[in-house]
Amino acid sequence: MKLFDVYPLYNVTPVKAEGSYVWDEKGQKYLDLYGGHAVISIGHKHPHYVHKLTEQLHAIGFYSNAVQNPLQVELTEKLGRISGCEDYNLFLVSSGAEANENALKVASFYNQKSRVISFNSSFHGRTSAAVAVTDNKKIIAPINAHNPVTILPLNDVVALETELKKGDVSSVIVEAIQGVGGLDEGTPEFFKQLETLCKHYGVLLILDEVQSGYGRSGKFFAFQHHNIQPDIITIAKGMGNGFPIGGVLIGKHIQAYHGMLGTTFGGNHLACAAAISVLDVLEEENLMANVTAVSDYFVAAVKDLKGLQKIKGKGLMIGLEFDKEVGELRKKLIYDEHIFTGGSMNKKLLRILPPLNVRIAELEPFVKALKKSL
Ligand SMILES: Cc1ncc(COP(=O)(O)O)c(C=O)c1O
Repeated sequence: MKLFDVYPLYNVTPVKAEGSYVWDEKGQKYLDLYGGHAVISIGHKHPHYVHKLTEQLHAIGFYSNAVQNPLQVELTEKLGRISGCEDYNLFLVSSGAEANENALKVASFYNQKSRVISFNSSFHGRTSAAVAVTDNKKIIAPINAHNPVTILPLNDVVALETELKKGDVSSVIVEAIQGVGGLDEGTPEFFKQLETLCKHYGVLLILDEVQSGYGRSGKFFAFQHHNIQPDIITIAKGMGNGFPIGGVLIGKHIQAYHGMLGTTFGGNHLACAAAISVLDVLEEENLMANVTAVSDYFVAAVKDLKGLQKIKGKGLMIGLEFDKEVGELRKKLIYDEHIFTGGSMNKKLLRILPPLNVRIAELEPFVKALKKSL
């Protein structure tokens, strides 16, 4: 058998990792400013994470959702307190797409409507409804194409109200800061209007925080920069620092009933141990303050780079938009300078998604390498 060949691969084979670094099989060290696609939140192989997972594996690794699991309760309470979202209920899943799939489904159950509004350049995952609300025709198979979805320009309040007025919209789904699309985001006024209009027309507002959440923007959730309260929030990536886990935070006005949702793997013992250890470290090591401090340093250090047009994003979810495509620059960074960075649908944008505990001193060589490579 061979692997189904869907990923274009860099010729690098990481075999070990620690903090903000990975090593290949020849012992070459790489600075990881990509975090395995915004997944590594508390750093590779954090001792507390390793301890919690090892301890859990020796106790019980998995049992289904048919029995009591006190780890789920501990995780839910901690997440509510640290995120400032105590007024929500949590449904645990295993990935970002699954979180969005369930969020869209919960909204549809709630108001018995089906059309969804999403936005240009959005990415919400690859399961049926999640891919249908994603703005990329190339990844929508015919079987996914029949979901009623309307994709609107971001920040266009008039277009939004025109659609909501029609009365058939179940939910609006939006990334607080776009990830795969290229770090564009709604203005604070747009987010405020979006909240108001959704309430007015009885439409549920879903904030996709799969990439921007978990402290990456400097606040626990990126929507918290705009002082709004979504009906549903979705999370994944940084939640388990690499262990697959996701979640749907569901407003208290939405009632659960037995059998409404379900999953075999979501919220299993190992996944919960990983997610609890991430929250412990985020809090104990004050990582959101570190995100803001490192981000401020970095933005100031790169602002005069040759060809730089715009700095996008917030915290440690940063996009550097240049006057030309960055494919070659990323290759130079990885093969010559041994630094991982990210790309996006916007080919001129370099995406920086380091672990949230990266230090300023660790970013200094990257700034030097950028100056040299440009
Ligand atoms: C904003 C956003 N939503 C959803 C997803 C899908 O997550 P997953 O790949 O875990 O299904 C991603 C993944 O990149 C994402 O960036």
